[in-house]
Amino acid sequence: TITPVLLCGGSGTRLWPLSRKSYPKQFAPLVGDTTLFQASSQRLTGDGYAAPLVLTNSDFRFIVAEQLQEVGIDPGAILIEPEGRNTAPAVLAAALWLEKTDPDCLMLVAPSDHVVPDPDAFRAAVAAGEAAARSGQLVTFGIKPTHAETGYGYLELDGDPGDFSPNPLALKRFVEKPDLQTAEEMLASGQYLWNAGIFLFSVKAILAAFRAHAPALIAPVQAAVDEGQTDLGFLRLDPAAWAGADDISIDYAVMERAENLTVVPFAAGWSDLGGWDAVWRESAPDADGVVTSDNATAIDCENSLLRSEDAGLEVVGIGLKDIITVAMPDAVLVADANRAQDVKKAVAALKEKS
Ligand code: GDD
Ligand code: MG
Repeated sequence: TITPVLLCGGSGTRLWPLSRKSYPKQFAPLVGDTTLFQASSQRLTGDGYAAPLVLTNSDFRFIVAEQLQEVGIDPGAILIEPEGRNTAPAVLAAALWLEKTDPDCLMLVAPSDHVVPDPDAFRAAVAAGEAAARSGQLVTFGIKPTHAETGYGYLELDGDPGDFSPNPLALKRFVEKPDLQTAEEMLASGQYLWNAGIFLFSVKAILAAFRAHAPALIAPVQAAVDEGQTDLGFLRLDPAAWAGADDISIDYAVMERAENLTVVPFAAGWSDLGGWDAVWRESAPDADGVVTSDNATAIDCENSLLRSEDAGLEVVGIGLKDIITVAMPDAVLVADANRAQDVKKAVAALKEKS
């Protein structure tokens, strides 16, 4: 079987004021009726999938349990990280836990804050990578790049991506978050795909990769799992042991160094909602390019997003063009749609003030 390993420890500051440290974007219904975390869990259920393993931190444990219950999904386990150490320790903890409980499964490691509009196509891509993963490959999913994004990992193909059908291809190398000039060169060469941040591998293969490429993580994370405490149905990783694990992402710790990499191209739509512009794009704008939420009204507006995140708060826009506005009970964002990426500056500025 395939065990979904859902990562939901991050906080997306570019979606302020909706995404907060205390309530990050994956737990909000940003696109559609369910939350991103719920949609991510639902995407990975059905034939061939085991109950998901969720990794989160203490603050979100009850949100995670409640949101899974709402959509009728029973978690296999919820592992609590005493503090965020990025994705490498989290994935290693999941692998070491599964080594004890289901050592022959494949792990499908997935972020919980992405939008994948066609879940069937996604499961088909996962199925296409299964044989490679069973044979010991670390399988990635490749997105056709549209611009020189520096916030993503890049996957170098051995040839060109062909017709972009979801067939496994050999990878030459993995480059995490290149600088702008390198990203531009990669885009122009046509030999690179974006890393979707979703991985498929066997427990054995990923443990071997950690032993080879990030051996210093093994002892502290193994101890954190072995000495973890069960508490109200959660497994709380041991804080003292966990504190000894380096803060590093799986992309840098393992993927950039590994040689047994495979990619399955995925062309059916994917977004990591890296800003309000992406939320606007993924929310099916009307003919004027307008997206409104409940309790928001647009009059003669163009290319704008208007959201009210409070049932008691009406938001009205008149004659707006290229504007993003998001109203929360305690904060309102009004921004030029072309400056969506600068929202993280707002978070920084507010932090300084407080
Ligand atoms: N449990 C847990 N613990 N989850 C975490 C932690 C942690 O300490 N840190 C991050 N996450 C979760 C985030 O919530 C997110 O769902 C996922 O892991 C990926 O982390 P990000 O911090 O969002 O990574 P990124 O966006 O910079 O880069 C990754 O994703 C890109 C695509 O969106 C990389 O894999 C890139 O190569 C990739 O292109
Ligand atoms: Mg991300």
